[in-house]
Amino acid sequence: MCGIVGVLGDHEAAPILVDALKRLEYRGYDSAGIATVNEGQLDRRRAVGKLVNLSDLLVHEPLLGKAGIGHTRWATHGAPSVINAHPHKAGPVAVVHNGIIENFRELRAELAGQGIDFATETDTETVALMAQYYLEQGNSPVEAARKTVARLDGAFALAFLFEGENDLLIAARKGSPLAVGHGEGEMFVGSDAIALAPMTDKITYLDEGDFAVITRESLEIRDANGELANREMRTIHLDDARIDKGGHKHFMAKEIAEQPLVIGEAVRHYLSADGNSVELPEDIDFTSINRLTMVACGTAFYACLTAKYWFEQLAQMPVEVDIASEFRYREPPVPGGTMALFVSQSGETADTLAALRYCDGKADKIVSVVNVAESSIARESDLALPILAGVEVGVASTKAFTCQLTVLLMLALKAAEQRGTLSAEDIADKLSALRGLPAALNTALEQDGVIAAAAQKLAETSDVLFLGRGLMYPLALEGALKLKEISYIHAEAYASGELKHGPIALIDKTMPVVVMAPYDALFDKTRSNMQEVLARGGKVVLITDRKGADDTSGDSWRTIVMPEIDPILTPILYAVPAQLLAYHTAEAKGTDVDQPRNLAKSVTVE
Ligand code: F6R
Repeated sequence: MCGIVGVLGDHEAAPILVDALKRLEYRGYDSAGIATVNEGQLDRRRAVGKLVNLSDLLVHEPLLGKAGIGHTRWATHGAPSVINAHPHKAGPVAVVHNGIIENFRELRAELAGQGIDFATETDTETVALMAQYYLEQGNSPVEAARKTVARLDGAFALAFLFEGENDLLIAARKGSPLAVGHGEGEMFVGSDAIALAPMTDKITYLDEGDFAVITRESLEIRDANGELANREMRTIHLDDARIDKGGHKHFMAKEIAEQPLVIGEAVRHYLSADGNSVELPEDIDFTSINRLTMVACGTAFYACLTAKYWFEQLAQMPVEVDIASEFRYREPPVPGGTMALFVSQSGETADTLAALRYCDGKADKIVSVVNVAESSIARESDLALPILAGVEVGVASTKAFTCQLTVLLMLALKAAEQRGTLSAEDIADKLSALRGLPAALNTALEQDGVIAAAAQKLAETSDVLFLGRGLMYPLALEGALKLKEISYIHAEAYASGELKHGPIALIDKTMPVVVMAPYDALFDKTRSNMQEVLARGGKVVLITDRKGADDTSGDSWRTIVMPEIDPILTPILYAVPAQLLAYHTAEAKGTDVDQPRNLAKSVTVE
């Protein structure tokens, strides 16, 4: 979602701000802008669409000054347009904002009552006008910002820049993350450390309710109670090289290809020294847990749905899985003995974070499975388990999904060991299979050409159905989500057994049906469902293994063959063809693979 950057530098701010915004592009946006203070004068430039439009504008209308703020906007209030783009400016104050100001209508009415006019429908303009109002009341810039922030309800991150102030930035955080970067006689602000990576690796994360007054030589942070707060400055190890495309055409392609490597790292991280059991950074007593509640959104939710099968089958644990936006408002009971597990790549998803806070004080233990180790969800959990996927830039989650699955499977094996539902030999066998997973993933990646050919055909259609049974059902859901989000083709997934209960009415010769079916205990049943599709002229793209392909030879329209593997690992392996199918279909259609329309990487609003 929206990205914020700020700089109090030693060099011209505009190129630094645009470069930092480029590094936030992955979050998703539809307009961008920057503001600077030059010899006391506050000015701004804004443009709709990609950052290149802002860069072009800056060529013709440069902005000078060594202090500035910048923003990529993902529209919430008001359409993507220049007038709605940030920074918003009201007289001597400019503001950039991520999140939503929930009480902006009341504040707007209050300001309107003072005779103040509005140029936009946005909540952010209200913040700028409120700060201007407090300045006109005789407050200093810091006081005006402090009084403004105190009036705001909602989840937001803000940065303020003031006319006449070449050495002042104000940053405030309530709900949306914000980091301050420390340079040599320079200071920076960013929505995340990635934005600031080329400038500094010394980062201070603001806590909930923090209000920071920043100059080139100082950082003063006050907490939600107005008390001076001492926040730790950390050195972040962001490998710069991992934030480029590494020779691939898109970040998504690079991230798909990285899976054998990062999954191998995740497996090693959680393996005991002898390789025969799972080791967690801190023990969980699974024998005292009688219910597991898993909550997440989107792809992370499908990782949870998959893990439900594992925890139930391997560890005999009752599991409930819920979409975070539903869970948080349903007010579900959280009985004693519940472990609440939250899965999130970004660790900042607003609904997942709110669901975690709902469970705080109710669940016996709060565990999270996250990619961003410094994220709010990680920090607010009793135990945060990193998935070690590395920075994921493509908006469509790929390597984070399979790393989430890997960590969740290892957690289920740990639960099975403690609860005595699997023997030590069985666990050692599964772990040995997990160690072989990177090699199998490499073989799956070699199917790229066959998958790309099938994708050329999918790109010509407008609807695709995905079917799967057992562990392949959540993966079918994920495959359909991947396809629709990056190729804009309508895709739906069903449990194969549900086909006859309605969706079969859709089948005709124009309808491709992707069937995910390793040759496992459920293969025969899925093959029957596949025959039902074929009998009605449907075109089947079958993703299976050698035995499955031999058993159905000639039946399917296209067959994609995966290596054989322990059935428990098939969701991780079969994610690769699902991702490649979506990727190549989007490529064939020429859509924006890494930043699909309307989508944001880090969903920090409800
Ligand atoms: C889809 C996708 C989204 C995210 C969802 C949750 O490819 O990436 O569905 O999975 O927005 O995000 P996180 O995992 O950051 O909580």
